[in-house]
Amino acid sequence: MKKLMLWMGGVLSLYASEGAALFEKHCAACHSGYIPMSKVIANAEQNNTLLSLKAPTLNQLSFGVRLNVGDRKADEEAQRMEVEEFITSYIASPQREKSVLPKELTHFYPDMPPMPNPLNEDEIEALSSYLFEYGEAMIKKHSVESYSYEEAAKIAKEQKKIIMIRGVLPFCKWCIKMDREVMVEPEVREVLEKEFVVVKTNVITEKLPLGMKSLGTPSFYFIHSDGETIIDQLNGYGDKEEFLEMLRRIKAEADRY
Ligand code: HEC
Repeated sequence: MKKLMLWMGGVLSLYASEGAALFEKHCAACHSGYIPMSKVIANAEQNNTLLSLKAPTLNQLSFGVRLNVGDRKADEEAQRMEVEEFITSYIASPQREKSVLPKELTHFYPDMPPMPNPLNEDEIEALSSYLFEYGEAMIKKHSVESYSYEEAAKIAKEQKKIIMIRGVLPFCKWCIKMDREVMVEPEVREVLEKEFVVVKTNVITEKLPLGMKSLGTPSFYFIHSDGETIIDQLNGYGDKEEFLEMLRRIKAEADRY
C-alpha cells in the first residue's frame, strides 16, 4: 500500500510539472508568471506602462477561471472540467467575447493570436489543471500559515501572540478578494507572522470560540494570548492599508491588557 501511495504521488507531481512545462513552452512567451495583484492593478491604472506586460499574468488567468468559469459553488472536479473546456476553446480560437477577466485589467492588450502548434487533448488537460490550481497554490505560498483554533490557542499562549480568526465562506467573493489581493502582500504577511496567529473558520459549518456569533463574511475576531479576552470583532473588506491599520490598532489594544 505504501508503495502504491508513493507511486501515485510520483504520478501526480509529474502531472503537475507537465502542465508547468507546457505553459512554459506554449504560453510563457506572452503570459508572465506570478505578479502580485497590487502590481497588476497599479499597472492597469497606468495603461500597462509600469510593467509593459504582453498579456494577463498566469495568476490572473488562474484567478479569472476559478472565479468566472463554470460554477464555483459546484464540486471542484466539475469546475475543473469546465475550465478545461474553456481553455480548449480559448486556445483553439481566442476571442475577446469569451474573456472572463475584468475589462479594466485587459483592455490595453492586443488580441491573443491563434496557437501555431495546436496542443493535443492530454496536453490541454495537464495545462488547464495547472492553471486551475496555480492561483490557490500561490496564495498559500505567499500568505501566512493558518492553524486550527486549538493549535493557534497554544501558539498564542507560548509566543504571546494575538489570535486572529478569519470568518470566511468558500464562495464569498470578498473573502477571495482578500486572499488574492491583501493576504499575499509581504507587509501584511510580516505583521501577521510577528504578532498574530491566524485561524480560518467557515462561519456556517464551524463554531466560533468564546460564544462569539458570526458577523457574516469576511469577518475578523481577535482574541488575546490569554485565550479568554475578546479584543474586537469586525466585519467587512479592507484593502492592504486599511487592513494593516486595523492590525496595528488591535495590537495597540492588546498591549493595554
Ligand atoms: C503571442 C502571445 C500569446 C501566447 C503565446 C498565448 N497567449 Fe493567451 N493571451 C494573449 C493576450 C494578448 C491575451 C489578452 C487578449 C485576449 O483575451 O485575447 C490573452 C488571453 C488569454 C486568455 C483569456 C483571458 C481572459 O480574458 O479571460 C486565456 C485563457 C489565455 N490567453 C490562455 C493562453 C494559454 C493557455 C496559452 C498557452 C497555451 C496562451 N494563452 C498563449 C497572448 C498570448
